[in-house]
Amino acid sequence: MANRILTAFSTTTSLLNRALAWADFVVHFISGYFLYYLVGGYKPQYHTRPRRLSHGDHYSPAVLVTGASQGIGLAVALHLASRGYTVLATVKDEKELDRLKKNMKSRDVRLDAGSLRPMIMDVLSPQSIATAVEEVTSVVNDRCPLVGVINNAGLCLIAPMELTNMKAVRDVFELDFWSYISVIQAFLPLIKKYQGRFINIGSYGGYVNPPMWAAYSAAKAAVEGMTRSWRFELKPFGVGMTTVRPGWTR
Ligand SMILES: NC(=O)c1ccc[n+]([C@@H]2O[C@H](COP(=O)([O-])OP(=O)(O)OC[C@H]3O[C@@H](n4cnc5c(N)ncnc54)[C@H](OP(=O)(O)O)[C@@H]3O)[C@@H](O)[C@H]2O)c1
Repeated sequence: MANRILTAFSTTTSLLNRALAWADFVVHFISGYFLYYLVGGYKPQYHTRPRRLSHGDHYSPAVLVTGASQGIGLAVALHLASRGYTVLATVKDEKELDRLKKNMKSRDVRLDAGSLRPMIMDVLSPQSIATAVEEVTSVVNDRCPLVGVINNAGLCLIAPMELTNMKAVRDVFELDFWSYISVIQAFLPLIKKYQGRFINIGSYGGYVNPPMWAAYSAAKAAVEGMTRSWRFELKPFGVGMTTVRPGWTR
């Protein structure tokens, strides 16, 4: 019963989110063109979209996804690859790398246009992030620009706050908030160079706050607040930043 209520609630919020996203898209699309053509605003961007070039080659921009061994990260990575992107699917360690490869094999997904490149990046390790930045730098170029970084690796803690120890709360913040900042700062030079965007996976828990979700809701609300503010700082560089709020997803 509780599961059904949660699913219904989540479906409703997802639909509302979808409607909001479309309204947002329409307003931005219209205002983007209006500003560009009438008052000299930002030029609408097309370099972020994969497409077939006139001489037959495929233009396949790169997107990096964190925590791509399973769940939403894996689904997003496979979807983007099937839509023609070069996906840099990053996972925590060797064990997760094996899991990602098994997951890729077991799914019947068409990857004819894009490609998926598994890589290791532990988002809690500055050293691992720095190594990943080097690897990504060697992979991307003008034909395959890095146009997106998706901060997805996360942890959901559902527990009564009174009984939750501080280490568990800090662990949620480490993965769901602080690591987002580390990843963004590390990849910012590349994203600035190719005028891409950061997508931070938040949660509907970041703005709807049910009981038992205090730590998680706080971390995801922090992601929302950070994104809303930071995106204004990045706009002059042609860089975008957005929060996506998934509903209940399995
Ligand atoms: N599923 C939902 O209903 C839902 C709803 C709203 C928002 N979200 C958000 O969506 C994101 C993905 O959720 P999910 O349900 O797909 O989670 P998931 O299935 O648990 O996947 C999370 C991924 O992150 C990885 N990860 C954990 N620690 C990492 C680290 N230090 N470095 C790199 N990767 C690491 C995990 O690897 P390991 O397995 O090795 O730990 C796993 O591959 C999270 O930010 C979550 O808060 C999920």
